[in-house]
Amino acid sequence: MTAGALPGPVDTLALRRALDATGPIGATHRQLASVLSASEDEVQAALERWERAGAVQRLGRGLWILRAYGTLLDREDFVEPATYTERFEHENGVAIGRYQGPITFRSNETVPVHRWWPYVQGFSAEFVRGALGDADAGPGTTVLDPFAGSGTTLVEARRAGAHALGVELLEPAVLAARVKTRFELDPRGLRERAEATLRASRHGPRAPLPFLRETRRQFAPAALDELLRLRAALPVGRTGVSEALRLAFGRILIPSSRLHRSPCLGYRRTGPGEGRSPRDRFAEAVATMAGDLEALRSEAERWGPTAEVERADARRLSVRPGSVDVAITSPPYVNGLDYVMNYKLDLAWLAMARSYADLRRLRSLEVACDNLPRAETRAYAEVGSAPDPWLPEILARVRENVARKATYRRDDMHAIVHRYFADLRTVLAGVLRALRPGGRFVLVVGDSLLAGTYVPGDLILARLGADLGFEIVGVEVARTRRSGQRRSFELRESVVSLRRPARGRAAA
Ligand SMILES: C[S@@+](CC[C@H](N)C(=O)[O-])C[C@H]1O[C@@H](n2cnc3c(N)ncnc32)[C@H](O)[C@@H]1O
Repeated sequence: MTAGALPGPVDTLALRRALDATGPIGATHRQLASVLSASEDEVQAALERWERAGAVQRLGRGLWILRAYGTLLDREDFVEPATYTERFEHENGVAIGRYQGPITFRSNETVPVHRWWPYVQGFSAEFVRGALGDADAGPGTTVLDPFAGSGTTLVEARRAGAHALGVELLEPAVLAARVKTRFELDPRGLRERAEATLRASRHGPRAPLPFLRETRRQFAPAALDELLRLRAALPVGRTGVSEALRLAFGRILIPSSRLHRSPCLGYRRTGPGEGRSPRDRFAEAVATMAGDLEALRSEAERWGPTAEVERADARRLSVRPGSVDVAITSPPYVNGLDYVMNYKLDLAWLAMARSYADLRRLRSLEVACDNLPRAETRAYAEVGSAPDPWLPEILARVRENVARKATYRRDDMHAIVHRYFADLRTVLAGVLRALRPGGRFVLVVGDSLLAGTYVPGDLILARLGADLGFEIVGVEVARTRRSGQRRSFELRESVVSLRRPARGRAAA
């Protein structure tokens, strides 16, 4: 309970009513306490009593619901995944298949080069190699990733001999993609410069504290002191070596802190894990990079031309029309992660953002998530104008469910989802223009559950593609995952393959 508040005792009848009003979405004990002006501790205790009696249940993220709302599938207004699958197969004439093989970034964590900057949101190098092979991408071909992230597609495309083009907004990810595709970087020069940096950091000045309010809470004092000295000693300028050292520094921030990403940024329950010093971590990160660069040299004659990584908005692609042979990407998911929030340490420490206003500006450019400034969703409040015929019904349901629950974080969730699909439609249209006739666009994307409503993001993206003039080559389910809102609900991640027809319609 918050000290100093004036909460009254909990009226259990009112509590039950308040919980009932939140329906299948549920509420946290804090939200309920605030609605009832009751003590958080008492509300929590009442909920736990009811849980033992089987009257309520706990969902993910601390949400509680009445047991009666526990089974989404029993609700009359809930449209389940299987219904959309059938509709998709019927309306779009494509049967949903299965993709075999690793798809998530986790399998990259020990793979040379990819391991330089672990990106939870990335996909697997093995998956990209398969997609490049299927599309015969090699010397003389061009490969595009409009949401390049940490550059998984670009690294593999260049290794296969192709010309790799990447577009990405988040600057730490742009840095990772640039450094990881610079295969010709001299490992000896990198080691020497890292040693000089470490030496200079020992007795040198400290960099100013980054602007983040919680910096002193995020790091133990000794780790913070070392990081500030290391930061001040990093070489400046945009040379290959200085950018590689900045990446190595960014890579050690979270492991040196009291935070973790799993996948969202949060405080660890216990203190900093193994207690290694930031300097040791930095030296180790550079040694890994240098070793991988040496090993890469054996395949130098196969490398494609220098990769191009542009810090830009995927909704405004400036790639020459008809110049791309294959595009491979994984866009943000519907109401997925807030990338800016999750990478705020890298942004602040590497001076890629200098204030909270900078973070907000960056967030409004990223494909919509639920931390988007309100002004960015206003134009999407109307559900009837959504870009796919399935959407008005889905968006209306999100709006109704949110309206029933006065405590929901935002009342414009339907507009966020609407904007997400509008954004993705623009990107699909841009990629269609960039592809040569017959060129493929392969997307790894997930479905979502939000505000008690199922959103088949993968199928809707395939449909948006078809509406723009792509052929749907296939939709294959690659893995299942748990919903953050309701742990018992199974979501999926799919590979959506589209093709620009050999002689097709022009992009809308
Ligand atoms: C799922 S991640 C891609 C990960 C990548 N496949 C990899 O392996 O590292 C999606 C990326 O889209 C980026 N993004 C979001 N909105 C964007 C926009 N409007 N333009 C360009 N990139 C954007 C995010 O910053 C994030 O890095």
